[in-house]
Amino acid sequence: MCGIVGYIGNRDAYPIILNGLKRLEYRGYDSAGIALYDGTNIQLCKTKGKVSDLEKRVKKEIDTKGSLGIGHTRWATHGVPNDVNSHPQYSNSGNLVLIHNGIIENYATIKEELLKRGYTFSSETDTEVLVNLIEDVKKNENVKLGKAVQIALNQVVGAYAIALFDKNKPDEIVVAKLGSPLAIGIGDDEFFVASDASPFIEFTNNAIYLEDEEMAIIRKGREINVRKIKDDRSVDPYVQELEMNLEQIEKGGYEHFMLKEIFEQPSVIKDTYRGRLLANKGIIKLGGLENYIKKFTNADRIIIVACGTSWHAGLVAEYIFEDWARIPVEVEYASEFRYRNPIITEKDVVIAISQSGETADTLAAVKLAKEKGAFVYGICNVVGSTIPRETHSGTYTHAGPEIGVASTKAFTTQITVLTMIALKLAKIKGTIPYSDYMQHLRELELIPSKVEEALKANHKIEEIAEIFKGVNNFLYLGRGYNFPVALEGALKLKEISYIHAEGYPAAEMKHGPIALIDEHMPVVVIAVNSNHYDKVVSNIQEIKSRKGVIIAVVTKGDTVVKEIADYIMEVPNTEEALSPLVTTIPLQLLSYHIAVMLNRNVDQPRNLAKSVTVE
Ligand code: F6R
Repeated sequence: MCGIVGYIGNRDAYPIILNGLKRLEYRGYDSAGIALYDGTNIQLCKTKGKVSDLEKRVKKEIDTKGSLGIGHTRWATHGVPNDVNSHPQYSNSGNLVLIHNGIIENYATIKEELLKRGYTFSSETDTEVLVNLIEDVKKNENVKLGKAVQIALNQVVGAYAIALFDKNKPDEIVVAKLGSPLAIGIGDDEFFVASDASPFIEFTNNAIYLEDEEMAIIRKGREINVRKIKDDRSVDPYVQELEMNLEQIEKGGYEHFMLKEIFEQPSVIKDTYRGRLLANKGIIKLGGLENYIKKFTNADRIIIVACGTSWHAGLVAEYIFEDWARIPVEVEYASEFRYRNPIITEKDVVIAISQSGETADTLAAVKLAKEKGAFVYGICNVVGSTIPRETHSGTYTHAGPEIGVASTKAFTTQITVLTMIALKLAKIKGTIPYSDYMQHLRELELIPSKVEEALKANHKIEEIAEIFKGVNNFLYLGRGYNFPVALEGALKLKEISYIHAEGYPAAEMKHGPIALIDEHMPVVVIAVNSNHYDKVVSNIQEIKSRKGVIIAVVTKGDTVVKEIADYIMEVPNTEEALSPLVTTIPLQLLSYHIAVMLNRNVDQPRNLAKSVTVE
């Protein structure tokens, strides 16, 4: 994880790097650091804490001159978060300065070798080992910095995106990538380096995304020299035009990114289906799918791999694909799938779902499925990220940057894409009547306005949050399509409020969790119109007769549950299969308000990071 930023050009590097780090803080926020170089002196400042803590220290401690600089925001892997373990890390001579996102797995062996050769280490990090290895190679082989980086990285096992400079080379930054993302922004006579394009979006729309096992030597006023790390082959880089704009990555008047992203859902769901869903004409057109329809229709089964919230979207898809397209679906935690010797054949289609497109376990699952001959399809949000490049084909969700660590709009846009795929396949396979197909299409098109309506309950949900903010445990129940929504609601609450919450299929409750029910246990039940409505009502009665407190998500106009439940959160009526797109909204808002009331850091909850690029 971690975020890295670099700049070389004619402007002051400090404000660019500081702002960049603030935008990348979603990648890690337990410590931060910066190194600036004015051609004579290197100024380095780093601290445990957030980028705002770094900013305060920089003001007091260093001179911010310099038009070359690198910065880092950390999510600790090797070594506790403290000042010393923060990046950048110096080499022993003090000439090389390096930032790193990733893990050097064989760092202990390398460190042992370097210790024998007289190197000393002040931190516990694998990063300090790497910068000294590069220094050692540079000295012993008498080579330039770029070559030394290449030779050193060939001795390294693990994952990295690195940026470093040499005090003796005031016009050069060297970067390299394997497994962690790295983008290079190309301006006029200036270059930017970052974990994603957000730090440089106001300066340039042109970027190169390095591929794995590539490095680049970036010199002020010159062409970028991209090379393969393994054999030093020169590469002609592809310069991509970016779609992101500055407004998309700012809070736009909301108190938190999470709230902004919750409220963006009506428009981003529309963005997800725009140009792809032509309801009046009965057409669904997904660029990445058109050439591979047969892979899906001939598949023995679909295996969905994902983590966290994306895994919950996969569970919703299992219901939709099986119900409409009649294709067997298995949904797997990517972290389990990759290590359990799964049976995968060439007749399987594997769908990898990931907001960031960088989740290490999902990426490993993609690689495994490819090795075993399956066709692998990606559903990702971040354009140009690793998973879309590793999969055979795929669809972007177009939700725009999701900055809040708790995933919200990624979930609903993933479901939107999966729904379109399922509908398209159902139509081609003839597994649903055409009239039903048209009805589903029209209903999907109405979902943004229904989400908009569900958001109107915000104030009422805030009042419910006020009542329950002091509770230690929550239970979330749902059935059918809304069972995954119960899981997602519980995940949202625990990750941002730190309140324990469990999601359960409502009918399973009597096989254990019902023992937990008493007057202190709030139970959030998704009880909207569905085939299981009566059964959910019975489940609610079971809870009520044990003095449980019910907060129910109900369809507008519901009278039955309204009578029994203690509190209700209304959502507009929609088809059962599409209901997760609206029932998830009040649950997102409930967790948001409780977290705010408890003074939690909503956008950056403790111990988490936005993209989990480590195992
Ligand atoms: C929860 C959350 C995580 C992610 C998970 C997968 O709110 O954000 O559970 O869903 O880490 O991340 P992606 O989708 O980027 O692969």
